[in-house]
Amino acid sequence: MEEFIKKNLLKAKSFHPFFEKALNEMLLAGGKRFRPKLLLGVVKAYNPLLLDNAKYAAFAIELIHTYSLIHDDLPAMDNATLRRNHPTLHVTYDEVTAILVGDALNTYAFEVLSKAPMHSDIKIELIKTLSENAGANGMVLGQAIDCYFENKKLNLEELKFLHLNKTGKLIAASLKMGAIIVNKPDLAQKLYDFGLKLGLLFQIQDDLLDLLDESKTGKSSGVDKNKNTFVTLLGKDEAIKKADTLAGEIETELNSFDENLKKELKKLLKSYLYRHKTLKEGK
Ligand code: IPE
Ligand code: IPE
Ligand code: MG
Ligand code: MG
Ligand code: MG
Repeated sequence: MEEFIKKNLLKAKSFHPFFEKALNEMLLAGGKRFRPKLLLGVVKAYNPLLLDNAKYAAFAIELIHTYSLIHDDLPAMDNATLRRNHPTLHVTYDEVTAILVGDALNTYAFEVLSKAPMHSDIKIELIKTLSENAGANGMVLGQAIDCYFENKKLNLEELKFLHLNKTGKLIAASLKMGAIIVNKPDLAQKLYDFGLKLGLLFQIQDDLLDLLDESKTGKSSGVDKNKNTFVTLLGKDEAIKKADTLAGEIETELNSFDENLKKELKKLLKSYLYRHKTLKEGK
């Protein structure tokens, strides 16, 4: 995947002194590439011959995700200065650059998808899934609620809705897009529902990891103190319990998948399902 990303970086040749460099900085800074790995895991389980072509779709998700992070860090949102072990774009350059780089990554995701060497019907399904889950009824909605309700308490059901939108839906879409590529519509729905739960767990863990030092996470910590999270609403111990329960349910659900898929997802999720455990030793 890393090679594919490097080969397909954004190009914007002009006399602007740093825009092209800024466009690619957060992509090149790395990150776990969790969403691309989920998509490629599904494809590998059912049709490894399609893996090279599937990288276009995996990259498209990573582009949307990276844009969401760049905007998430802006002063108007989480006001964070460190991301993927790098200063955030608005710190290195300025807010205008960070906003526009996010915009460009968002747009480029769909350009990349449109150019994928796949049947047009499949591509349209992929574009539909990615746009529905990233936009006004997905990640963007989650972020809107996340920011509006800073300093205003949500109930647990509302909190779950927030997490499912801001984080769950892109993770669910990653798995579903894998199923679309291997042409398995029934599996697509099943994986989507599974992905929502996985995404909820992922966000609870992320909020727990926020209690750690930023040298451990590579991003600013403590900036979400006034936000609605399982940690701020229920406390660290209850949040860990909730994560444990979800991880257990996910492990059980994994066993209902086809043998190859089970194998691929178990391999990938091994280091994720209990990532909140690292906190137990911390403060
Ligand atoms: C962070 O996502 C934002 C959330 C949705 C919790 P990741 O933890 O996947 O960030 P990277 O891609 O590894 O930097
Ligand atoms: C952000 O959640 C989710 C996104 C849609 C980007 P957070 O604000 O907790 O993500 P981090 O901790 O900054 O990565
Ligand atoms: Mg945020
Ligand atoms: Mg944030
Ligand atoms: Mg966080």
